[in-house]
Amino acid sequence: MNVLVTGGTGTLGRDVVMLLRQSGHRARILSREPRGHVDAVQGDLKTGAGLPKALAGMDAIVHAASATREPMALRATDVRGTRRLLELARDANIGHFVYISIVGIEGVAYPYYRIKIAAETLVREGMVPWSILRATQFHSFMELTLRAFARLPGMLAIPFGWQFQPVESREVARRVVDIVLDKPAGMLPDFGGPQVLDFRSIAESWLAARKERRRLMNLWLPFKASRQVAEGRLTCPEHKDGLVTFDQYLAEKYAL
Ligand SMILES: NC(=O)c1ccc[n+]([C@@H]2O[C@H](COP(=O)([O-])OP(=O)(O)OC[C@H]3O[C@@H](n4cnc5c(N)ncnc54)[C@H](OP(=O)(O)O)[C@@H]3O)[C@@H](O)[C@H]2O)c1
Repeated sequence: MNVLVTGGTGTLGRDVVMLLRQSGHRARILSREPRGHVDAVQGDLKTGAGLPKALAGMDAIVHAASATREPMALRATDVRGTRRLLELARDANIGHFVYISIVGIEGVAYPYYRIKIAAETLVREGMVPWSILRATQFHSFMELTLRAFARLPGMLAIPFGWQFQPVESREVARRVVDIVLDKPAGMLPDFGGPQVLDFRSIAESWLAARKERRRLMNLWLPFKASRQVAEGRLTCPEHKDGLVTFDQYLAEKYAL
């Protein structure tokens, strides 16, 4: 199968690309900076540049691109860009559009999640036969989040009660590959990591693995979203699909 992977240079997308290629399929990457990548087309969801070329000859799309690092470009990339990609995919007779989303997003009042819901809604309109997989937060994303809270030296102030179910992105990628190689299936069951953990224990494991000494402090955030994350709305305890725990991820990454 010929699969276009948007976000094929990102955390999830690069594993999707690798696994597709390992199983004998063609994975073409869409990227704004394709230099150094094999079978990659330069394009930008924000402007539409390069998209027709990227779609030519493809059977299916894994849409894993998102302006995760550019909040100001989120709507243009994730909503208008997704619409543009769907319209071009319909015109190019693409048989399957797989969209990657996030578990529990309607339950947490966070701007990025509103964007994800808007993009999901476009996919669900059915311009192209579709599947949507929602996953919980990746292990590497837990680290990104912790780093963002660790700006002050010597301490780490975080909402202790936030609940996450971190998952290994490679395991999500394996599931995405199975999905794209199968028939369009609509809204799929959530995909979660093996354990629901509070943010305090995630932080303790992270500091220990990195041999970092920081005073852990509970941070109260006066936002609805913070309370909702503490209520476990981003978790799916009935779907403990991933096998790799956060501790195992850390042990592999920080082992001497
Ligand atoms: N991270 C998590 O914990 C998590 C959990 C569940 C679901 N998800 C979802 O999974 C998907 C992938 O997340 P990720 O963490 O792997 O992303 P990531 O590592 O931040 O990568 C983002 C990707 O989007 C591409 N991109 C950004 N703006 C673009 C634009 N204007 N045009 C074309 N490509 C653009 C980037 O490609 P270039 O820079 O090469 O152009 C990059 O490959 C996202 O939809 C995310 O919401 C993430």
